[in-house]
Amino acid sequence: MTETPLIEVKDLTKFFETGHGRVEVLKGIDLVIQRRERIAVMGASGAGKTTFMNILGGLDHPSAGTVRIEGRDIFGIQGSELDRFRNAFIGFVFQFHQLLPEFSALENVMMPILISRVSSAEARRRAGSLLDRVGLSHRVAHKPGELSGGEQQRVAVARALAMKPRILLADEPTGNLDSRTSEEILELLDGLHAGGDFTMLIVTHDEGLANRQDRVITMKDGRIAA
Ligand SMILES: Nc1ncnc2c1ncn2[C@@H]1O[C@H](COP(=O)(O)OP(=O)(O)OP(=O)(O)O)[C@@H](O)[C@H]1O
Ligand SMILES: [Mg+2]
Repeated sequence: MTETPLIEVKDLTKFFETGHGRVEVLKGIDLVIQRRERIAVMGASGAGKTTFMNILGGLDHPSAGTVRIEGRDIFGIQGSELDRFRNAFIGFVFQFHQLLPEFSALENVMMPILISRVSSAEARRRAGSLLDRVGLSHRVAHKPGELSGGEQQRVAVARALAMKPRILLADEPTGNLDSRTSEEILELLDGLHAGGDFTMLIVTHDEGLANRQDRVITMKDGRIAA
């Protein structure tokens, strides 16, 4: 018996209607991803990588095609239930951390946990332990603007993992960092992946980083290049 793949993408297409006509961004993507895989997503600027990641994570809807996660068609999930599903299953790390500027590192990491209606004492404990794991126990009270770029990205990683997601989607997580800090973030992600149970997709323009993953997927013209 074959196991249901963690992620199964079938004939995914996405177009945008703009003032100057229709822009076809994804033109039929098929992809199967197994549990715990580490995948690099590469491709030229404009190839559709971010659009694809956003759809995989349920942040944006496809024009046609399906995304199944553990066999479940995620765009068949209605309204706020999709938000709950996303909060429980998927962690995002973006190129620009997208932390909430008014809140401390600890509060930023607590946010997804609180949304899931865990008590605030428990959320605080879990967020503190995550910040400890990303090496930031001495910075929990700092706001994002009081942290370095690499530290901000560590907080973003802790936040992404706060709900123990099955899938971590990272869209150029080091695109904005110098090479040494990038290396530190990648080692952090590798270590967390090795000690955890999640699948990781990382969009990157860095071939060295890509080749460290289990598999490299190259997008070209809205398709996955062979
Ligand atoms: N909301 C939108 N409306 C119209 N076109 C869009 C929209 N979002 C993205 N596009 C177009 O889709 C194409 C793919 O964009 P996307 O952001 O997915 O590329 P990318 O591969 O992530 O590029 P980069 O490496 O520069 O981040 C681009 O040509 C972009 O202009
Ligand atoms: Mg992008």
